[in-house]
Amino acid sequence: MATGKTFYIETFGCQMNAHDSEKVIGTLEQQGYAQVQVEEDADLLLYNTCSIRDKAEQKVFNRLNDYKKLHKLGKRFAVIGCVAQQEGEKIFERAPYVSLVAGSASYRKLPEMLARLEAGETRITGLDDRQTDLTFETEFTSRQNPYRGYITIIEGCDKFCAYCVVPYTRGKERSRGSDSVLEEARRIVDLGYTEIQLLGQNVNSFRDPQGKRSFAELLAALGEIPGIRRVRFTTSHPRDFTRDIVEVIDAVPTLCDHVHLPVQSGSSRILRMMAREYTREWYLERISWIKAAKRNIALTTDIIVGFPGETPNDFEQTVDLLNEVQYDAVFGFKYSPRPNTPALVMIDSISDVEKSTRLQVLLDRQREIQRVNYDKHLGEIMEVMVEGTNPGRGQITGRSSQNKPVNFTWGGPIAPAPGSYHRVRVTKTFPNSLVGEAV
Ligand code: 5AD
Ligand code: SF4
Repeated sequence: MATGKTFYIETFGCQMNAHDSEKVIGTLEQQGYAQVQVEEDADLLLYNTCSIRDKAEQKVFNRLNDYKKLHKLGKRFAVIGCVAQQEGEKIFERAPYVSLVAGSASYRKLPEMLARLEAGETRITGLDDRQTDLTFETEFTSRQNPYRGYITIIEGCDKFCAYCVVPYTRGKERSRGSDSVLEEARRIVDLGYTEIQLLGQNVNSFRDPQGKRSFAELLAALGEIPGIRRVRFTTSHPRDFTRDIVEVIDAVPTLCDHVHLPVQSGSSRILRMMAREYTREWYLERISWIKAAKRNIALTTDIIVGFPGETPNDFEQTVDLLNEVQYDAVFGFKYSPRPNTPALVMIDSISDVEKSTRLQVLLDRQREIQRVNYDKHLGEIMEVMVEGTNPGRGQITGRSSQNKPVNFTWGGPIAPAPGSYHRVRVTKTFPNSLVGEAV
């Protein structure tokens, strides 16, 4: 449509946000907007924001500040996503040139909000918060990732961990119907994708509103769709992690051999203060199920250091948990107090220096664990899906089913296309990546 309306969008934060942007872009295009790649060329600038930690939130206001001068040229600004939901109308006070503020639970109303924007309104809000039971489904998703098709299966969160802002920014937990998920997966295959990634704040809390399939049954059904070669899912919550998930990974080869299972802390005392609703032992039991699988399932986790009241002994238990589980990757974060959360009333007693020290100890220990873990792949021949090229090094970059980065040399004159699969022999290992050659 040649309506001359253009937009620029920038996305911060997690894969949920990346995929929300794909849906927002599709919706905007449907409304006659064309995407541009530089701010100056756009009529409408959108920032899809993250508020999981203080630093993520700060980035958004810095970016708005960088471009506010464009407002004088008649450009409009929209803040969407988690910071929008969290700060609400306060954003209009802090950045008066912003015209639209909308959280993810309101995206299905975007066409209406865009119409109001075009009619000249300057303070439009979509802040449905925890009121809606609806999910944001659209057939107009504009897929930006060339090799990975994202599918949302569950939105929002009802877990209310003491440190986490997500239940307030993404609303109530609500699952999509499994038929609709399968339908979308088939459409993705028709577009040429062979890898899908299921998304949800807690994917395994999925409850089919039609009551047709459990999460494990949905995984199996997706893995059996002709044309699908890899199914990933993230993030799983230990509380809802059931044994049938491991059984289905063992039974269906297209399900990737990787589980991301955030533990947050190795101390049961801290886990209780975090309101995680499990103990160290309970978590480790789930880990033992995964380790007992026939396939070699890679394990990754998230950890918060410096939660209020975390003693050196509590932290020691977390490091000890790393030793016990031997993860393939750990995402470590310093505790960051967040608005509205229960932990806000607990005294953030641990200094930033101490948090940094603990984080460094954790990551150093994990690096040694990964050095050993990754080294076990030496000489192995594995299937790698191509993600791109690293021209500097003349290498093809990709990932194994376990989600490990693999960089490999390629004999042919033309580099293989993103999304294609190749067998690679591992010739060298690092703590964070594997190096090999196509065979
Ligand atoms: N401070 C630090 N890390 C946090 N996370 C969530 N909330 C906070 C917070 N307030 C981390 C958790 C979660 C990951 C996505 O971000 O480890 O699993
Ligand atoms: Fe950030 Fe969480 Fe929002 Fe994702 S859901 S953008 S991680 S705050």
